[in-house]
Amino acid sequence: MELITTYICKKFDIGVHDNMFGGTLMSLIDDAAGSYASQLCDTPRMVTIKFDELVFKKPVKVGNILKVYGKVVKFGNSSLELYMEIRKHNVYTGEQEIVTHTNVKFVRIDEEGNPIPISERVKQRYAERIKKFGKGLLTIEEKGFEKEIVDLN
Ligand SMILES: CC(C)(COP(=O)(O)OP(=O)(O)OC[C@H]1O[C@@H](n2cnc3c(N)ncnc32)[C@H](O)[C@@H]1OP(=O)(O)O)[C@@H](O)C(=O)NCCC(=O)NCCS
Repeated sequence: MELITTYICKKFDIGVHDNMFGGTLMSLIDDAAGSYASQLCDTPRMVTIKFDELVFKKPVKVGNILKVYGKVVKFGNSSLELYMEIRKHNVYTGEQEIVTHTNVKFVRIDEEGNPIPISERVKQRYAERIKKFGKGLLTIEEKGFEKEIVDLN
């Protein structure tokens, strides 16, 4: 799994029981998963088609630091299924506990909103990056290193 984003729970995220609102947590997953899917597939046109069950296991309070992790479960033809996990991060100990997790599915669409295939190159690149770097999204420096490996081959 790889870290996609970090978020601090603020006062305006709180619902009626002094806990972070469930819909906001869902939105955080959708944002992170959507941007992850787009970057992995080299396109801004990825739409959410399905959210699996979400169980909120731990309350989130103001000031809590949340880390959103994700990984690819499966590439389909036009679809991409991701596993997403939100963890509360303790800055004193570095310990993390799972707040919620779920699978989210995206579909690649064209300009008219119709499904189109995700390229084989994208799927192959993800598999290679997982093997070499343990993650699908690379920093600029890592991309340079990746290019050097490709140029050598
Ligand atoms: C996404 C959308 C274009 C797909 O159109 P569609 O006619 O349902 O597409 P298809 O039946 O051709 O299926 C396309 C893919 O979605 C998958 N899919 C369709 N219905 C699904 C369902 N109920 N559950 C899981 N996957 C589903 C198919 O398996 C297929 O995947 P594959 O190409 O990897 O095999 C259309 O449903 C849509 O526009 N939905 C609204 C998206 C949206 O607004 N999301 C919120 C904001 S991002």
